[in-house]
Amino acid sequence: MNVLVTGGAGYIGSHVCVELLEQGHNVTVFDNFSNSSRNVLERISQVAGKRPSLYEGDLRKAQNIGCAILTHKPDAVMHFAGLKAVGESVIKPLDYYETNVSGTVNMLKAMQAFNVNHLVFSSSATVYAPPTTPDDLPLTESSALGPVSPYGRSKLAVEHVLADYAAANPYASIAMLRYFNPIGAHPSGLIGEDPKGIPNNLLPYIAQVAVGKLPHLTLLGHGFDTPDGTGIRDYVHIMDLAEGHLAALDYLTAGFEGCFAMNLGTGQGHSVLEVIAAFERASGKTIPIVEGTPRPGDIAVCYADASKAQELLGWKATCTLADMCADAWRWQSRNPEGYGRRQ
Ligand code: NAD
Ligand code: WQD
Repeated sequence: MNVLVTGGAGYIGSHVCVELLEQGHNVTVFDNFSNSSRNVLERISQVAGKRPSLYEGDLRKAQNIGCAILTHKPDAVMHFAGLKAVGESVIKPLDYYETNVSGTVNMLKAMQAFNVNHLVFSSSATVYAPPTTPDDLPLTESSALGPVSPYGRSKLAVEHVLADYAAANPYASIAMLRYFNPIGAHPSGLIGEDPKGIPNNLLPYIAQVAVGKLPHLTLLGHGFDTPDGTGIRDYVHIMDLAEGHLAALDYLTAGFEGCFAMNLGTGQGHSVLEVIAAFERASGKTIPIVEGTPRPGDIAVCYADASKAQELLGWKATCTLADMCADAWRWQSRNPEGYGRRQ
């Protein structure tokens, strides 16, 4: 199939592009490179042995995404393009609504105009209301929704747009995949997570400490109501996540019509200290720690009930935390400057 991958030069999109190409699909990346490097496309080609096409454009410009769909006539769209930093969304909410919501509307109008019915959307566990008691966990697709950041609210708004669009378009075929905490990298060490500036998220931050780019990790909270006092999250290997996207695409193109939400997680939580210990074992490096204070709104525990994905798609995460850390370390140690320069 011809698949248009918006945000395909980004962390998750690039790993899905590799999987799509290796499965024989034709891939076109649609990206404005606002948070990624053009070098990713060459790396995708090295890993997959086949180069994706590129349409450099901005989702906020209807004519860009419209021209991309008219030109490349995709059978399906995988929609990763968006802004995703929780903290930044509080400072620049309009940027998040413009890109994530209006950008998606631009894309849907183009899909409707050119009869493109299949869509896999990158949603997020941030659409759920923060779990406050053990009875709220694990989070299922029926758990209470209640995002607490403009970012999370923009993702939930897109889910509503997609559900309403599907209700009005009988041929629409849409999967909204709610990721928990994707980490790790392709085992080749050629592609991985390359955040701009100081990483917001735990794993890339630890990796940059291990490779010597940052002096220490600040423990954002050590007094949570968890066994070791640090936050617990559902970390899922980026390669498992990518396979989940291929499984969702197969399900849509096998005849599904409508719109559904689905968790992509492991169903297991790991604490910050467990992740640090796993990364130290994988890298052979010691991660110096400084005690800090919790980020506003940070929750103690969050992990998925991923049984629906197994029942509907036959998908289940298989990689362990050790696999995630080993693959993340291989990427970081071979690419200490990310895509900017390679060792
Ligand atoms: P990323 O920033 O690495 O990739 C996003 C890509 O979209 C980048 O290549 C960027 O250049 C592109 N982009 C941004 N704005 C654009 C625009 N206006 N026009 C065209 N391209 C644009 O992010 P990621 O981690 O790969 O996340 C991809 C998607 O998955 C996002 O929608 C994010 O909300 C979602 N998600 C990510 C996580 C996570 O932890 N990484 C978790 C849950 C959901
Ligand atoms: C994990 C744990 C922190 C950094 C994010 C966001 C959002 C989502 C992915 C899009 C927490 C602790 C972290 C650090 C630390 N993406 N930590 N020191 O907060 O679960 O959620 O996930 O949807 O970006 O919702 O992920 O990696 O930021 O934090 O101690 O320097 O690591 O307190 O317990 P989080 P995270």
